[in-house]
Amino acid sequence: MPDRSLPAAFSLGPHLLSLSGMSKERITSILDAAETFLDVGHQTVKKVPVLRGKTLVNLFYESSTRTRSSFEIAAKRLSADVINVTPSQSSVTKGESLSDTVRTIEALGADGIVIRHASSGAAAFVAERVNCHVVNGGDGCHEHPTQALLDLFTIRKKKGHIDGLSVAIVGDILHSRVARSNVLALSAMGARIRLVAPPTLLPRGIEGWPVTVHHRLDRGIEGCDVVMALRLQLERASGGYIPSLSEYASLYGLSARVLERHAPEAVVLHPGPVNRGVEISGEEGFRNEVAILDQVEFGVSVRMAVLYLLMGGRPEEAALLSMPARGEVL
Ligand code: CP
Repeated sequence: MPDRSLPAAFSLGPHLLSLSGMSKERITSILDAAETFLDVGHQTVKKVPVLRGKTLVNLFYESSTRTRSSFEIAAKRLSADVINVTPSQSSVTKGESLSDTVRTIEALGADGIVIRHASSGAAAFVAERVNCHVVNGGDGCHEHPTQALLDLFTIRKKKGHIDGLSVAIVGDILHSRVARSNVLALSAMGARIRLVAPPTLLPRGIEGWPVTVHHRLDRGIEGCDVVMALRLQLERASGGYIPSLSEYASLYGLSARVLERHAPEAVVLHPGPVNRGVEISGEEGFRNEVAILDQVEFGVSVRMAVLYLLMGGRPEEAALLSMPARGEVL
């Protein structure tokens, strides 16, 4: 088992599978660490040696541009070695099970595995079968914890705080692991959360969530500080949830007009990838700040913080991160 002797207040624990039960203090510690790592990305040589000698394996059973690349860049900036295992080009195609696959990866010397899988609970399943660290890179409709952490980081950067903000999450809540992780994290941080969606795109049991539910976009986003559009997950929805894409876009798509009228101060987020013209239209004409690419940039430093806190960095090393002269490699 990798070294996990960090002070409890600064350690994430062996795995990051979910944000359920994560305290405001713990989330704030991660965001603070990410702030430190943001500076590394602005150095000429974007590298620090805190995970030298560690190996991270990205194991993505579902497609990804942002999350997989972001973890790879984050790990490399921390000087870890990174391997990407693509199931479609691996022995998974010969019938190897998830359990055997992750045990094999661990036997190869992985200190950490980032797993993305179409099945809810896959990351926890893996964590029960290996001794190395496991990070949930998105499991089915369950959770995407690092996406929510980078969303919170972006909100804090743009608004200065999270506590007391009104955040509207708009769209396909039913299939969204991003929404679930965000509801957990935003409520822990003291934000007021509104979910805006047609009844068909809301999960059962929504009454027990710490949110208010709206079916009309204009009322749902009225006066909000943050509006987060979700991707309509066409690959998970086998049809019947919405009458048509154009009707969905006209009722729930964010436009300059609706934002200026109902949430003029709101910063606009989207986890990506965006279905242009469906969730968001005419972004170029927005007066509202659209922070989608900031989310991507901040995601690298948030994932650096997560990997560092999980995989054996030291707080005193973190304090050194902002000290080297530009271009110097520690
Ligand atoms: N937001 C997100 O998870 O994007 P990718 O699917 O590109 O990783």
